[in-house]
Amino acid sequence: MVSAVSSKVALVTGAAQGIGLAAATRFLADGWSVAMLDIKAETLDGAVRALNQPDRLLALPLDVSRPDHADQAIAAVRARFGRLDALVNNAGIAHFGPLMETPLEAWNEIMAVNLTGPFIMTKAAVPLMRETGGAIVNITSISSLRASTLRVAYGTSKAGLGHLTKQMAVELASYGIRVNAVAPGPVDTAMAKKVHSPEIRADYHDTIPLNRYGLPEELADAIVYLCGPGASYITGQTLAVDGGFEATGIGLPTLRRDQKNG
Ligand SMILES: NC(=O)c1ccc[n+]([C@@H]2O[C@H](COP(=O)([O-])OP(=O)(O)OC[C@H]3O[C@@H](n4cnc5c(N)ncnc54)[C@H](O)[C@@H]3O)[C@@H](O)[C@H]2O)c1
Repeated sequence: MVSAVSSKVALVTGAAQGIGLAAATRFLADGWSVAMLDIKAETLDGAVRALNQPDRLLALPLDVSRPDHADQAIAAVRARFGRLDALVNNAGIAHFGPLMETPLEAWNEIMAVNLTGPFIMTKAAVPLMRETGGAIVNITSISSLRASTLRVAYGTSKAGLGHLTKQMAVELASYGIRVNAVAPGPVDTAMAKKVHSPEIRADYHDTIPLNRYGLPEELADAIVYLCGPGASYITGQTLAVDGGFEATGIGLPTLRRDQKNG
């Protein structure tokens, strides 16, 4: 039995499902207490009940794009656990569409959640986090590292978050806070199901050396690693967890077809 008072505390945003839920589950398994924040109150409630760890879980049905909600979240973490060792800025939304068919409203909404959200959450969290030192992990995307079709707003928001990661790492190091990013390749979550058509799925298989989608648990492993003692000298980095997508150039499908890829 892990004592909620002695264990480290993580706050994971977008934790009701997908990669965020996998990260929360992994933190719990490693003995952490976890504050799970998500805008979808009902889904969050179901996830927290299923995890069945009332002593080490706190549900925060809040919106990362609202500064008042961020302050409320941190106040609740302080009141319940008294410390914050890790912040995972994972909440995100996607809109895929060509540049000329991307409405300003969609652009603004994506920036508000994917880029401004981590800025707001981090500013709210740092005063509590600096009391113990800790780690922040921002979830970007392979779409932050390479421009892909249809991701003008999404990819740009995630590239911005990649730079914000470096900016935060430089400024927060003196508080004992490390800041890194995890850039997932395609992962079969509700988000991917919404925006990945069969054609996009086939294209991903073509361009990923490991030739498959990632699992939420594989992302959780990287996130929790970057928050732990094994990563104590790593800050300002982006770790692509992408089956090799970022490493490859042209010719992969040809190599596979001709069975020349090893
Ligand atoms: N699934 C993929 O293929 C993929 C690839 C690259 C990056 N990512 C990134 O990983 C992160 C998690 O994605 P996922 O695939 O698990 O998606 P998901 O849609 O399954 O989960 C995202 C969660 O964020 C929550 N959320 C959305 N807006 C919010 C807000 N304003 N405040 C609080 N919570 C909010 C949603 O309610 C949802 O529970 C996202 O940042 C996403 O951009 C995902």
